[in-house]
Amino acid sequence: MHTRESIDRGTILRCIETACRAPSIHNSQPWRWQYDNGEISLLPDATRLMESDPQGRQLVMSCGAALNHLDVALRGAGILGRIERFPMDGTPAPLAIVTVQRGHRVDSDDEALLAAIAERRSDRRPFKPADLEAFVPLILLGIDALGIAGTVLTDGSRDAVASASLMTAAVHRYDSVNHHEIHWWAGHDRASDGIPRTLLGDAATASAVVGRNFPIGSLKPSGPLADAADWLLLYAAEDSPRSWLHAGEALSSVLLRATASGFATCTVSHVFQDAESRELLRQSLPPTARVDAVPQVLVRIGAAESSPLTTSSPRRTLQDVMDTTSVPQGDRR
Ligand SMILES: Cc1cc2nc3c(=O)[nH]c(=O)nc-3n(C[C@H](O)[C@H](O)[C@H](O)COP(=O)(O)O)c2cc1C
Repeated sequence: MHTRESIDRGTILRCIETACRAPSIHNSQPWRWQYDNGEISLLPDATRLMESDPQGRQLVMSCGAALNHLDVALRGAGILGRIERFPMDGTPAPLAIVTVQRGHRVDSDDEALLAAIAERRSDRRPFKPADLEAFVPLILLGIDALGIAGTVLTDGSRDAVASASLMTAAVHRYDSVNHHEIHWWAGHDRASDGIPRTLLGDAATASAVVGRNFPIGSLKPSGPLADAADWLLLYAAEDSPRSWLHAGEALSSVLLRATASGFATCTVSHVFQDAESRELLRQSLPPTARVDAVPQVLVRIGAAESSPLTTSSPRRTLQDVMDTTSVPQGDRR
């Protein structure tokens, strides 16, 4: 019988490093990690909170994505992680503590998801139509256990995304905080965070794809400009930090399963910034799903137009995100 202490620190640190490949709002990587005595703590990094995200919705969701990536990395290394979410109070309180234990038998699903971590990119180019329907159950697998549901928007509802995006752009046209923030995080080729110019669409690409108003970059489509992507909307039954964390975990799972199935993806979240556009998206859900549904995040999904993206966005080093202090002490809930 293996005990949790028998896992060497190097293996755990490599898993945390892999978890840091998770997507995050503007590639801000707003997480910190601690590891001690078989327990990995995930903490929010409040210094990386966006001014446009005062409640921390996008920050917590990004940390949720990292938590799911960690789970995939651990499983791929034959380790089981028992996740306790919001385990204790404190400042800052950990979002999750993962107790690790050897003895997980790695299967082909684990291997495929682990490989998808390295392959996945946020692709902001137009997509070709893809035969998504048969893959939807696989892509959404397991997210119901997190209290998150997902639906592919039908033709009529797809217009709601375009309308919500226009509404968001109009509301924030003269919002200097928003402009400053986007131009701070996106469009520069920084060493360890932010979105590089090479991964942002050039003028033609940016106007052909529904998305956030990023600075113009150098990413060109290689095929027709018309975007035939599908939209996958993830929603919860409540709006709370817990549901944001779960939505982030579900987002990561969906992105990795879609990548493993050969689809190109991009997370889209600007349309959740304001209550009005969130409501527009809620109305786009089928009537049976609409009651009490709180839309959380969108995934644009389709077939990549040409070759996969060759560059990837940078990440902070492990030293930058690891706290050397030990796991927070306090009363577990
Ligand atoms: C919560 C969240 C919100 C995001 N919102 C957007 C968005 O609105 N538009 C976009 O193009 N990318 C969005 N992204 C993707 C990030 O920009 C991307 O993950 C980050 O730049 C790292 O790049 P990568 O996904 O290629 O690794 C979001 C990611 C997360 C986790």
